[in-house]
Amino acid sequence: MGKIIVEVCVGTHCTMMGAMNIIDSIHSLEEIQRELDEDFCEVEVRATPCRKLCGGEVNGPFVKIDGEEIQSAENEGVMAAIMSRCRSKNL
Ligand code: FES
Repeated sequence: MGKIIVEVCVGTHCTMMGAMNIIDSIHSLEEIQRELDEDFCEVEVRATPCRKLCGGEVNGPFVKIDGEEIQSAENEGVMAAIMSRCRSKNL
């Protein structure tokens, strides 16, 4: 079973831009996996402090999935990236 590390910045800027919604969505995804008994991938969510990426021209929230940074992260994009990685790790 593959493991995916998702680091969500929960600094002030990213929190204001919706970081907590993303964390909630990831937890919902984990619950759905459990309920469907589709335990094909483990997702570890880490809340991280401000990574000093905010304040410039790029907006948060900033989410790093297995080291790949996503700027202006939205639920749909983060979920799609997680599912894609789950599939590729279990091929
Ligand atoms: S608050 Fe997220 S990078 Fe600064």
